[in-house]
Amino acid sequence: MRKYGLAALGTAGLLALSACAGGGAGSGEDDGGGGGGGDTEAPEEVLVGVAMPTQTSERWIADGEAVEAGLTDLGYDVDLQFGNDDIPTQAQQIDQMITSGADLLVIAAIDGTALTSQLEAAAAANIPVVSYDRLIRDSENVDFYVTFDNYQVGVQQATSLLVGLGLLTEDGSEGEATGPFNIELFAGSLDDNNAHFFWEGAIETLQPYIDDGTLTVPSGQTDIEQAATLRWQQETAQRRMEDLLTSTYSDGTELHGVLSPYDGLSRGIITALQNAGMGPTLEEGLPVVSGQDAEIASVALIDQGVQFATIFKDTRKLADQAVTAAEAYLAGEEPEANDTETYDNGVLVVPSYLLESDIVYAGNITSLLVDSGYWTADEVAAGVAE
Ligand code: GAL
Repeated sequence: MRKYGLAALGTAGLLALSACAGGGAGSGEDDGGGGGGGDTEAPEEVLVGVAMPTQTSERWIADGEAVEAGLTDLGYDVDLQFGNDDIPTQAQQIDQMITSGADLLVIAAIDGTALTSQLEAAAAANIPVVSYDRLIRDSENVDFYVTFDNYQVGVQQATSLLVGLGLLTEDGSEGEATGPFNIELFAGSLDDNNAHFFWEGAIETLQPYIDDGTLTVPSGQTDIEQAATLRWQQETAQRRMEDLLTSTYSDGTELHGVLSPYDGLSRGIITALQNAGMGPTLEEGLPVVSGQDAEIASVALIDQGVQFATIFKDTRKLADQAVTAAEAYLAGEEPEANDTETYDNGVLVVPSYLLESDIVYAGNITSLLVDSGYWTADEVAAGVAE
C-alpha cells in the first residue's frame, strides 16, 4: 500500500463529507450525523505546494498559473512559488511548503539533483511529490513524473533543422537539397535532465547526415558539455554564438543552420547572427534556427520568416496531467502512468505520464497555436502575450 494512502484518504474523506454537508439540507444537528463528528461547516483544507523554476520564461508562468487554476477549481488551496532560477531560493520555498503543512508537492526543479533533502523531508511527512516537466534526480522520493516525450522533442528539433535546410520535407520525405551544410549545436542546462534527452534525440537524428558528410560542425564543438547553456539563458547562448562566429566563421566559412533546443536560446542566437550582418530573414540568408516551447516572441519571429521552427508542447495539457495526478494522490489512489521504463532518476524508474509535441513551422501556426487557443492571431502579429 502507498505510504500516504491513509492520510490522503482521510483528507479526501473529509472533502467528500464537507461537499455533502454543503449540498445537504440546511444546517441542522451536527451531532446526529453518523459518526462524522465535524462540528462546523469549515471544510478540511488541502494545501498543494507548486514550485516553478523561474518567471523569466513565459511558459513557466503559464504552467504555474494553469496548475494553480486546476487545483483551485478542485477546491484545494495552492501555494505557488517561482524560484528565480536560484537553487537555494527554490529549496527554501519547498522547505517552507513542507513546514506549512502541504499535502502534496508539484515541483519543476531548477537543478534536478539539488532537492534530495527537501524530498526526504517530504517523504518523512508522507507528502507525495509530482515532478513537473523536469525529472528530479537522485532521490527515491519522487512519486510521479508528468512531462512530454523529451527524446522525441529532440528528434523534432533536429528534424525541423533538416527541413529548414531542405534535406527533408515537412511530411518527412527526402528533400531536394543535398548539402553539404555547416551547422552549430546548442544544448540546454546540464543540470536539467531534459537537456540530455533533447540532445540525444537531436544528435541521433543528425548523426547519419554528419557521418556521410552532408552536415559538418565546423567549430568541432560536438559534445553536450561544449554546447551546453547553463540555466537556459538567452545571453549565454548569444555570447557563445558570437564567439563561434569569431573563432570559426570570420574567414568567410558559411553557416547554414543552428540546432537550438529552446526559444530563448534561439532568440539569443538569432540576435548574434543578425548583429554579424546575416539575414535579417531566412529569405535574406539568415541561417536556419530551431527552437522549443512556442514562446510568443519566437512564434512571431517564425511568422516573420526569421526563426525557422519551434516545438509546441501544450503546457495546458501538462498542467492538466499534474492536476489529475494530484487529485489521484489526494484521493488515496495512484495516478495512471503511460510510461514506466524511460525515466530512471538514478535511484528509481519514476512512473511517468508523457505527452506528445508538434513541430511549428510558419505554415501551421494557425492550425496548431491559434485554432487551439494557445495564442491569438493578434498575439502572433504583435509578438507579445496579452
Ligand atoms: C526545459 C523544458 C523546456 C524549456 C526549458 C527552458 O526543462 O522542458 O520546455 O522550457 O526547460 O525553460
